[in-house]
Amino acid sequence: MTELIAELQELETNLEPADYLKQSATVKDRFNRLKQRPITLEISNLTKKFETPKGTITALNNINFSVYRREFVCVIGPSGCGKSTLIRTLAGLETQTSGQVMLNGKEVAGPGPDRGMVFQGYTLFPWLTVKRNVMFGLECSGHGTSASEEQAMQWIEMVGLGKFADSYPYQLSGGMKQRVAIARALANQPKILLMDEPFGALDAQTRAKMQSYLMDIWQNIDITIFFITHDLDEAIYLADRILVLKPHPGEVQEIIEVPVPQPRSPEQMLSPEFLATKKRLEELIHPPCASQSSGDHLDVVKMVNKNDEVPSVF
Ligand SMILES: Nc1ncnc2c1ncn2[C@@H]1O[C@H](COP(=O)(O)OP(=O)(O)OP(=O)(O)O)[C@@H](O)[C@H]1O
Ligand SMILES: [Mg+2]
Repeated sequence: MTELIAELQELETNLEPADYLKQSATVKDRFNRLKQRPITLEISNLTKKFETPKGTITALNNINFSVYRREFVCVIGPSGCGKSTLIRTLAGLETQTSGQVMLNGKEVAGPGPDRGMVFQGYTLFPWLTVKRNVMFGLECSGHGTSASEEQAMQWIEMVGLGKFADSYPYQLSGGMKQRVAIARALANQPKILLMDEPFGALDAQTRAKMQSYLMDIWQNIDITIFFITHDLDEAIYLADRILVLKPHPGEVQEIIEVPVPQPRSPEQMLSPEFLATKKRLEELIHPPCASQSSGDHLDVVKMVNKNDEVPSVF
């Protein structure tokens, strides 16, 4: 009888929807340790306004956020909320209107080799081989040719493209190009990797592979990652914490400590804590729209004649 009661209690617990704020002892302990690490990136009161002929556009409003060393942070937010503006400001490609960005205690005032960038679009030099693309930054920062070549090859091997060192970008798939872009960004040994939807143009299968590659790299080298994505699964799968921005103008909406234990594996995507986090992100990013909740429907747009009878699709 007692066994039956215990079984029923367990069943009841399993049926309760998981809470994304509830962390297992292991996850809680990991976050406690993570927050004791040094702060790599500190964003304080960051505001960015663009002056345009049509007036002032506030892209970012008073952002405050810190990233710990070797942390993996994902940023999620609706289109136009300022994610790219934020990462470009961290890279030193945009100047903030007010506020401050500190990297390892030094103020960011322009681009620098302490930050590596990977964008969605393929940004390799098409006229250079894979090896030459990766060597480029090293040579620019004063390394000799043979030292640059040696280091470049290490990073190319790290992303699994040793056999393609002498290939040109047009001979590579989209996923391979992004692996070269990651190798090139890491070759300068930055403190932080800034990634703006780096896998956004890849098909779902390649994207999943790239996520695993990136996780392996992150686990094996001393790098902090700040990663923008539109994909909720990608954010939960990769991140220690997710910074959720409000719709335009970008402000911090919520900072989520992902309750899914590390190291991650694709099977965890069906775990209660993964699904609970996804539900929370969906609530934040895609709140029910007014016309749907009130049951309103738009009229079907007629393509030919106003008097045509348009059959229902249902
Ligand atoms: N150079 C610029 N001049 C004027 N306005 C700009 C400039 N760059 C961005 N903006 C504006 O700032 C806001 C934020 O743009 P941003 O590209 O950062 O958004 P985003 O979150 O990256 O969008 P998406 O998810 O579509 O990539 C938008 O309203 C955009 O029009
Ligand atoms: Mg963007």
